[in-house]
Amino acid sequence: MTSVDRNKIAVLLKEEAGKTVMAKGWVRTKRGNKNVAFIALNDGSTINNIQIVCDMKKFSDEEMKPITTGACICVTGQLVESQGSGQRVEIQAEEIQVYGTADPETYPLQKKGHSMEFLREIAHLRPRTNTFGAVLRIRHSMAYAIHKFFNDKGFYYLHTPLITASDAEGAGAMFQVTTLDISNPPRKEDGKVDYAQDFFGRQTNLTVSGQLEGELGALALGEIYTFGPTFRAENSNTPRHLAEFWMIEPEMAFYEIKENMDLAEEFIKYLVKYALDNCMDDLKFLNDMFDKELIARLQSVISTDFVRLTYTEGIDILEKSGRKFEFPVYWGVDLQSEHERYLVEQHFKKPVILTDYPKDIKAFYMKQNDDGKTVRAMDVLFPKIGEIIGGSQREENLEKLQNRIAELGMGTESLWWYIETRKFGTAPHSGFGLGFERLLLFVTGMANIRDVIPFPRTPKTAEF
Ligand code: 4AD
Ligand code: MG
Repeated sequence: MTSVDRNKIAVLLKEEAGKTVMAKGWVRTKRGNKNVAFIALNDGSTINNIQIVCDMKKFSDEEMKPITTGACICVTGQLVESQGSGQRVEIQAEEIQVYGTADPETYPLQKKGHSMEFLREIAHLRPRTNTFGAVLRIRHSMAYAIHKFFNDKGFYYLHTPLITASDAEGAGAMFQVTTLDISNPPRKEDGKVDYAQDFFGRQTNLTVSGQLEGELGALALGEIYTFGPTFRAENSNTPRHLAEFWMIEPEMAFYEIKENMDLAEEFIKYLVKYALDNCMDDLKFLNDMFDKELIARLQSVISTDFVRLTYTEGIDILEKSGRKFEFPVYWGVDLQSEHERYLVEQHFKKPVILTDYPKDIKAFYMKQNDDGKTVRAMDVLFPKIGEIIGGSQREENLEKLQNRIAELGMGTESLWWYIETRKFGTAPHSGFGLGFERLLLFVTGMANIRDVIPFPRTPKTAEF
């Protein structure tokens, strides 16, 4: 065996010709004739394959036979300037070791294009496609950029619990967490399940949002953000909903709604610019394959001021639009994706921040406006996505918060600690939540949220 260190293909493709190299990866294609074989090899480090050229005088048919699409191999050889077009350098193979074969009869990822639906059924293998390689590399870059953005601004990354006893959004769409025997749970005298005997001595669920604990952090550390998985048991089978999705929730002491909007806008623009600056190979691939306007759309977002208007003004525009929407529009209605997209795509043709929603369609913690009808909410609406961010200034007044909780008939027992922050050193503060997969839908141009997370969780699917 030649002794040389393995290099990633992303590195090799940038090296100068004229040295012995080693590459390891999965065969995308093999073609050729009696005299020469060409293998396109990919190792996930880049969308680009490296070409392996095999002089058939050096390799027997027996050796070449197991090298088929999907097989994993280790190649040693000379890095040479490529004769062909399409790549600068290629490897003239000297030795090939096969780590693992992939039977052409049964390996599902043959060369032909596959539908996204089919690829979801083989989510264990789809990361090996160009499309998912690109999406997953961009996903990684966005996660990194999120931490960098906040770290550079002096925000602290706060880890909030995944198991909670409260319903942060007051929406009730929660997955229960229990160690009780659900076929025969202990019961109290009134026949109700006796959660005192459950693991935590009370009823618990997977968190729908880290916000409430995030507020505790902000009211001590100043500016924090969370970035973790959240869970919603809503039966929404749409291209924009997951039962398990990742959310980024910054929370800031002393920010009012205006500064909250400024941060949200700066944040998204930073992330989109980061993708354009750092993920261009993958974006070009997605642009060419799926969405010819992707890169232009990303560029336009970073150079446009988002439109800011109130919910009431938005409703007015929708009512005057003359459009027949599937869901009728009136003041007080919870906006549907079709309404949001009309404002963004048809009316303004740029991202929109809507503020001051009716209090009845928003969560209990939002700061109440003096009109008694609206709260200081803000939703950021994006082309092709609809709502990408939801946030608000928080109600910092103890009495108003308590009244709202009572009005909504929510129990205060599980929220006593949250309420205490308004009793001890309360402060104006604000925050928002960015759905990580919604951001990725925008940045990658993918049409379905199931295709921007490696292993999606949706109603009736939890395979892989
Ligand atoms: O608007 P939401 O429900 O707001 C909150 O959870 C607040 N606690 C955020 C905060 O103020 N700290 O959710 C925030 C964002 C939405 O705008 C959307 O991008 C995303 O989370 N989201 C989902 N993404 C995928 N699947 C779902 N089922 C989602 N539900 C919300
Ligand atoms: Mg929302």
